[in-house]
Amino acid sequence: MTDDDVRTHVLPHQHMLGGPVRALHELTRVYGYIHTEHLPIVADVFNISVAEVRGIVSFYEDFKTHPPARTTIRVCQAEACQAVGSRELTHELEAAYHTKLGIRGNDVELEAVYCLGLCASGPAVQVNDQLIARASVAKLQATS
Ligand code: FES
Repeated sequence: MTDDDVRTHVLPHQHMLGGPVRALHELTRVYGYIHTEHLPIVADVFNISVAEVRGIVSFYEDFKTHPPARTTIRVCQAEACQAVGSRELTHELEAAYHTKLGIRGNDVELEAVYCLGLCASGPAVQVNDQLIARASVAKLQATS
């Protein structure tokens, strides 16, 4: 990937509302995660500072600055899911996958998320791109 390749993916978003966020989503789609050497290119295209781009990347949980684990499990920690056991489910997932919430492993990464839009069917979990309602360890292992 050359700087010109990266710029090619950023430029179409230059005059859009929310352009930097859209461009960063595109870079994630194309390259798998946000490479730090891409930040100055985004800053240049949008005429903002590298610190501003870094701020956007760090603000949104969807932007990763490292290669993603093979499986990312996002467990809803918001109130409706807590009321139906998301904290207990989180502990069960930590034990089942030998990891901790927020710790990146090579195979499985558990992440906290605050609402997946399945509030009436919690606890809600997202495994890579798949949403799972009324989640349990057994249900997750059956779907993966
Ligand atoms: S509160 Fe968990 S999906 Fe909305």
